Amino acid sequence: MTETGAGAGAGATYTPDALIADDIHAYLDRHQNKTLLRFITCGSVDDGKSTLIGRLLYDSRTIFEDQLAALEADSRRVGTQGQEIDFALLVDGLAAEREQGITIDVAYRFFSTEARKYIVADTPGHEQYTRNMVTGASTADLAVILVDARKGVLTQTRRHSYLAHLVGIRHVVLAVNKMDLVDYSEQRFAEIVADYRAFATSIGIKEFTAIPISGFRGDNVTAASANTPWYAGPTLIAHLDRVEVDQHADAARAFRMPVQWVNRPNLDFRGFSGLIAAGTVRPGDAVRVLPSGRTSTIARIVTQGGDQDQAVAGQSVTLTLADEIDCSRGDVIAAADAPPEAADQFEATIVWMADDALLPGRGYWLKLGTQTVTASIQPPKYQVNVNTMERLAAKTLELNAIGVANLSTDRPLVFEPYAGENGTTNKTLGGFVLIDKFTNATVAAGMIHFALRRAQNVHWQATDTSREHHASLKNQQPAVLWFTGLSGAGKSTIANLVEKKLARMNRHTFLLDGDNVRHGLNRDLGFTDADRVENIRRVGEVAKLMTDAGLIVITAFISPFRSERDMVRAMMKPGEFIEVHIDTPLADAEARDVKGLYAKARSGQLKNFTGIDSPYEPPETPEIRIDTRALTPDEAADAIVARLIP
Ligand code: ADX
Repeated sequence: MTETGAGAGAGATYTPDALIADDIHAYLDRHQNKTLLRFITCGSVDDGKSTLIGRLLYDSRTIFEDQLAALEADSRRVGTQGQEIDFALLVDGLAAEREQGITIDVAYRFFSTEARKYIVADTPGHEQYTRNMVTGASTADLAVILVDARKGVLTQTRRHSYLAHLVGIRHVVLAVNKMDLVDYSEQRFAEIVADYRAFATSIGIKEFTAIPISGFRGDNVTAASANTPWYAGPTLIAHLDRVEVDQHADAARAFRMPVQWVNRPNLDFRGFSGLIAAGTVRPGDAVRVLPSGRTSTIARIVTQGGDQDQAVAGQSVTLTLADEIDCSRGDVIAAADAPPEAADQFEATIVWMADDALLPGRGYWLKLGTQTVTASIQPPKYQVNVNTMERLAAKTLELNAIGVANLSTDRPLVFEPYAGENGTTNKTLGGFVLIDKFTNATVAAGMIHFALRRAQNVHWQATDTSREHHASLKNQQPAVLWFTGLSGAGKSTIANLVEKKLARMNRHTFLLDGDNVRHGLNRDLGFTDADRVENIRRVGEVAKLMTDAGLIVITAFISPFRSERDMVRAMMKPGEFIEVHIDTPLADAEARDVKGLYAKARSGQLKNFTGIDSPYEPPETPEIRIDTRALTPDEAADAIVARLIP
């Protein structure tokens, strides 16, 4: 008896968490003793992917009886050939989308055989759906690459193989489909296999299993076919049932468990709960907590079923340690003698999944394992054309683009290279997602290559004269008065008055003004979104150094994006960043048009002008808001000074 994961079979999102929904657990529990194989089917609509999946589900009797009845009725209605059921209808009928920031079109389906239980990720095959395929493939152990026997190896075959290999899938099946339409020709099959082998080798796929099938007729899917007497290999399902999954290999690796949460029901018990990513653990094992590096010994392994004397990769457990050492969510407990590294600069492959392109320099949330940090991505070193595997120059990454870039994080990350030794894949500590801080949408998936050496070799130089000392010499509290507003709002005018008033009060100040900084430090930057992000990032860094020197810094930049203003805020000590919104309606700024730029922008002579054809995101809760309709520049400056020095 088998069951479907009803309801859970609909579209799901990238995070493995989404897969670990309760209903799926319940389903899997009922098949506890069978091993699980997750696989992905790749191919375009015409390759017969839906038909094949439908056949697998049908032949393993996982279709609800009433769905089957409906299917037979549908097939009759749309007039499919002969008496046969159109399996494609079944799969397409089950497909649904769920929205979580971005729409990922991946449908997960469940079936089981006597030997195994299966989760199949089914993704659309069109080029623009790279993100779907990467999403589906990210949790898969095996990829079934479908090829139409009449057409042979196509661009999309290459693309899918490349993506499957990229996300670390270790088992590849080349299913040469529609053999019935080439008269079950052994020669045709051999040609396709040879073609594919040449390509696969070139991208680093060392092994694959080729099977001649007909999803429509059922040849070599679940039953060996009499039509291919020349083929002595396994049927597709026999191969899937037998292929070695890597759980054993994972158990043999060095122990790693990212801490999901600290379990402290009372003062006598403190346990660290998480899913073991790799290795085996036993009480008495010496462990190291990363990134702190502190060591201890495993005291107990607690599970729902009681204490265990061993736990392996893939199990969720609570560990207790022999010593009271600091360890919190996001830390990684690892084998003491083979710990992973921690670093804050990396090279990584990035798959961009959002409609808005990557903004190099912007801060995104980066989630890796149970760690969440802020990361900023440098301009890509190159982008990969997924159809030809060529490397192309790129300044950013657009939807569905794949590129390689350096990135830096605000705190050290405990990590391992995604592509591990001996063909292993470190998905948990090597794979990450990037999340937009404002929309909360997942914008990218990434795979770490390695930490940059400079991250380890450039240390903070401890200086003897502290920032407190600098500030006390000047007899003041450092601060940043961050002016933001439209061009022509009056930022520079008011900032200038504020600086004069502070100077009269013997305060040590420095005014950084957009127009001036753009003649020097930032003269290489223009007014694209990406350049504005970089403009503000640099100004933020300079402002921070100036506060370390004890100064009151006044900045006057449009700084149109909330993300970057918040990034600068996060760089400063709490309370030191004072956001001043010079709130002038666009109509007023345009009417004044001191520099004549609005007129140029309106006439199309000036592109990307803020407020006209480039966005301005006003602050939601600035420390100070100046309504320039209500106050003169002098009154505004007084109000700001009064707020700074009460
Ligand atoms: S920001 O958006 O990156 O913060 P910044 O404050 O440095 O801009 O520079 C804005 C000034 O550059 C404006 O006051 C204006 O004088 C000038 N400028 C020239 N082109 C543009 C443009 N396309 N958009 C906005 N300002 C521009």
